[in-house]
Parts: sequence; structure tokens; C-alpha cells
Amino acid sequence: MDTEPMESRPAVDDDALAREALSVLDANWTGRATMPAPGLYPHQWSWDSAFVAIGLARSHPSRAMAELRGALAGQWRDGMVPHMIFRTAEAYFPGPAVWRSQDHEDAPADLPTSGLTAPPLHALAAWWIWRHHGDRAVGFVREAYPRLAAHHDYLAATRDLGGSGLAAIVHPWESGMEDSPAWDRPLAALPGAPPNGAGPAGYTDHFVWLATRYRDSGYRPEYLGQEHPFAVEDPMFNGMWLAACEALAELAPVAGADSRPHAERAARIRRALLDRLWDGGFHARDLRTGRLLRLATVGGFGPLLDPGMPGDRVEDMVRTLSSARFMGASGYPVPSCDVRAEQFDRARYWRGPSWINMNWLLCRACAVHGLWDLAEGLAADTLRLVRQAGFRECYDPFDGSGRGCRDFSWSAALTLDLLADGGVLDGGAGRCR
Ligand code: GLC
Repeated sequence: MDTEPMESRPAVDDDALAREALSVLDANWTGRATMPAPGLYPHQWSWDSAFVAIGLARSHPSRAMAELRGALAGQWRDGMVPHMIFRTAEAYFPGPAVWRSQDHEDAPADLPTSGLTAPPLHALAAWWIWRHHGDRAVGFVREAYPRLAAHHDYLAATRDLGGSGLAAIVHPWESGMEDSPAWDRPLAALPGAPPNGAGPAGYTDHFVWLATRYRDSGYRPEYLGQEHPFAVEDPMFNGMWLAACEALAELAPVAGADSRPHAERAARIRRALLDRLWDGGFHARDLRTGRLLRLATVGGFGPLLDPGMPGDRVEDMVRTLSSARFMGASGYPVPSCDVRAEQFDRARYWRGPSWINMNWLLCRACAVHGLWDLAEGLAADTLRLVRQAGFRECYDPFDGSGRGCRDFSWSAALTLDLLADGGVLDGGAGRCR
């Protein structure tokens, strides 16, 4: 990862920061979607688009709707929303030649995509747009609802590999946090995988091996008649899905549909999170061994997004989040891994650095539970990060210096939301509050 000493930028006021954020998003617009960053990420990534839509929802609703529409346009016939859509002619590895989506009968014929999915945040993003625009967003909600519902049905039908109501990820890329140390053990134990080295584009060979094996199975849940070599129940993925189910329960009547299946699904996910992933904190479960992956990472706070989480669990999570293992340890929240863990590395993606999307989600989670001081502190510290170091991909949690690429879309977009009057701290009406 590109690292460098602390930058100091001239002081910028809120209006100038918002203008800078918008110009990054304009420069990264491909005409149909916003690429995460020029050069490094020149296509559309699904959960990045959900964050971009959230960030633009208040000030640029048409563009926010277009962004989500773009992400949902890649949806496969079985409901799967792919983690990437290839939008430009720019080379990227692994590209369409690796995924071969267009050879698959369920994939869109005219739009090459990956064959993996991404954290299911899209319904929450659609809800965010609707919440801010009400009647003016009704047409959009009606249009998006069937795709959002089909996406959730896909997860329930094909990814509930543990049979409890949680969705399993079958590749670290599906978590959006592929370098998280939480995946080290399942990756080290991959049955039959080649020895690991740094593959093309710096990806580990295991990532590419897993992706091509899944492709060769026809991207089917049965997976060539065997178990998935990597199958993990992730608390962040499922915490987001739960929040997205709550959001869909509110959007359903707007689209003339029934809320109940979404509310029931949310309740089932909550029960399963508590029964299967809680052990003093939320941890991912490796379905191959049946064991919890007991390492505290930022992913463990995903269930805090759920308004229905029991109060004692909320208190436990907030205690850990505020402790010297996470926010209390570093000046620039939120470290992506417990700073006391052996695996913590302040410089490596998802193994230590702070990310704006995680800060935004945790701010939102605190607002959902009325934890205003924590939410306000997180929002203020996040803005301090971007003021000092710009819209970087992630940040050193100790000195706030920027890491990874520049002009990163979700950092810019979510800054707009944090700057907006009330922003994420304005919980809004309804159960999703
Ligand atoms: C990196 C991040 C992932 C993101 C992608 C595009 O791979 O880990 O979360 O979606 O870049 O920004």
C-alpha cells in the first residue's frame, strides 16, 4: 500500500470541502456509475456504489438514484447482485476474461460482471434516498424494490449454508474487507489450494484460485457437489443485511408490497447473529470447521446497525468500540482491527487502517441507538481526517496520514453526508431510526 508521512493541507471550510468532494465524484463518474478511484479501480464496485448513493442522497438525489440503478443493473436472473460491473475499457485484473459472466445463463447479456456478490447495503441506500425525498422518490422506490427484494431472496435461498438464517460469504472479496485478518485462518486451511504468493495485481493466488473454482462450478451453491472451500458467516455482512431488511420492510408498502417477510427475515437474522456469532463480541464463524474466528475487527460491530439489538449487547459492543482496543487507542477512528491483536498492522488494508465507510456505518449505528455523543465524536473525527489528509482510501489510525489511493469516491461521498445539516446524525423517522 502507498504510505507516506503525514500531509498537512491548507485549512478548508465546510463549503470548500463539499465542493472538493463533489469534484472528486464528478471526475470519477463514468456516465453510468462512479468508479471508486481513477487508475486503481476503474469500474463499478457494488458496495462502493451504495456508499456513493448514500453520500449523494441529500444533495444530488438523481445522481444517487442513477448510482444505485447502475449497481442493480448488473443483477443476475437468480437475484445475485455482483460485486463488480465492468463499465469502462480499462484493463483490470481479474477482469471479464476471468469471471466469464457472459457465458452464464443467469448473467446480464450486455454487461460483464464478476460472479461474486458484495455486502448487501443497497436497500439501506434506497431507504436513505427515500427518507430524504419522500414522495419525490416513490417512483424510484417502486422501480428498485423488486430488484432489492430479489437480491435478499437470493441471499436467503443460496447463501444460508449454515441453515440458520445468516448469509455466508464464499470469498473474502464478498466481505468488502478482503484483507481482514479474520480470514487468515480459513485461507490458510484452503483444501487443495496452491501455495500462496502474490498473484497478479498483488492479489493473493488464493483469491484468484477461489474465484476461478467458484466460476468453474457455474457459480452454483452446490459447488461441484462439494463444500465451498471458503464459507464464512460474517457479522458485518449480516449486520448490513439485517439493516437492509429493516429498510426494505419500510419501503415495501411504498412499492405496494408486504412488509412482513422482510421484518420476519430481519428477526431471523438477529436471532441467528445472537445464537451463532456472539461470544463476548460478534465474531465470524468458519463453516468448514464450525468454529468462531475469535479476533476483534471492525466487522464485529456490524450488528450494531440493528435497531432491534438487545440493549445489553449494544452496551457490550459500545464498550469495546470505545475501549483502548479501538477508538480509545488511536486519535483517528476506527481502526479496522483490535490494535492489541498480534495481527494489527497500521499500514495494511483492513488490518489496521481507518476507513470512512466504516466510520459512517458506526456513526449511523450510534444514531440508531441514540448514542449521540459517540456519534457526534465519530463524525467530527472523521471530518478531521479528510480535512487533514484528503479523500484517501484509508488512513493511519494513529497519525491520520492518508493511505492507499487518492480521490476515493466513498470517502468523498460520505463526507458530503457528514457535512450536510444533521447528516447521519439526523436519525429521521421510522423504524430504521
Ligand atoms: C478494495 C476494498 C473494497 C472496495 C474496492 C473498490 O478492494 O477493499 O472494499 O470495494 O477496493 O473500492
